[in-house]
Amino acid sequence: MNMDIVTSVTALRERLQREPNNVFVPTMGNLHEGHIDLIRIGKPKAACTVVSIFVNRLQFGPKEDFERYPRTFQNDCEKLRSAGVDVVFAPDEKEIYPEPQTFAVEPSDLQHILDGEFRPGHFRGVATVVLKLFNMVMPHAAIFGKKDYQQYLVLRDMVRQFALPVEIIPAETVRAADGLALSSRNGYLSQAERAEAPRLYALLRDARDKIANGERNFQRIELEAMALLAQNGWVPQYVTVRGRADLQAPEAQGRELVVLAAAYLGKTRLIDNVEVTL
Ligand code: PAJ
Repeated sequence: MNMDIVTSVTALRERLQREPNNVFVPTMGNLHEGHIDLIRIGKPKAACTVVSIFVNRLQFGPKEDFERYPRTFQNDCEKLRSAGVDVVFAPDEKEIYPEPQTFAVEPSDLQHILDGEFRPGHFRGVATVVLKLFNMVMPHAAIFGKKDYQQYLVLRDMVRQFALPVEIIPAETVRAADGLALSSRNGYLSQAERAEAPRLYALLRDARDKIANGERNFQRIELEAMALLAQNGWVPQYVTVRGRADLQAPEAQGRELVVLAAAYLGKTRLIDNVEVTL
């Protein structure tokens, strides 16, 4: 099967005219097994699988890693070809932002908590580019990883509230053998940091087990986990138990929880989460 690589919206639309039914996986490239798994989930859902590769400046803070974000286009295309992708959309910045983006999608409640607190404007940037990409690709379904749990919820809510004709399908987090969630940012880790990194998932699993075994003092779990990270050289931003529906503090009767964490290991910011059902 042929894989078409298009870089302009015009070429994309022309190519997709033949494919009224497509499933879409947006990415920023530097693809790993986590991305490929989204494609695997999407492929059987439509005749045509579209993947975008675009490092979206709008979702990076001024001091974040936009400039050094890994760009590995040739390698990515080989992986996408092997995965059976039909269309790769790889626009440059001028194609997505031909003029300053003065309109934006504001994900009101969710954008100020957790990652939104530590990355102001991040979810506005994500929601805005994903809305644009949806308008360009016009997919009937799109796949997002639960690795970025808050991002998945923001986009799910955006689609619901704006009545976008796209089904949002979540995918489980893909991990390395030692538990570390796969991420393009893992490539920033030194050898010593890479050896330390699985601790994040280990302590999330610990928290999940404690809750499953009846612990209801969530604050104690959170503080202990933060302290453990700090003792091992991390700079934790949050470890927190939340309701899965809206990422607010769990209600007494809420049974569907998620434990989320974000922490710096050296210069690298890692996030992860695990779901807990009571
Ligand atoms: P990126 O970080 O490239 O991720 C693209 C998709 O892959 C997202 O849905 C993300 O949740 C998913 N993903 C990443 N690591 C994963 C893992 N280990 N297991 C499962 N899924 C994983 O997320 C973005 O790009 C951008 O914010 C984007 C949505 C493309 C908008 O710019």
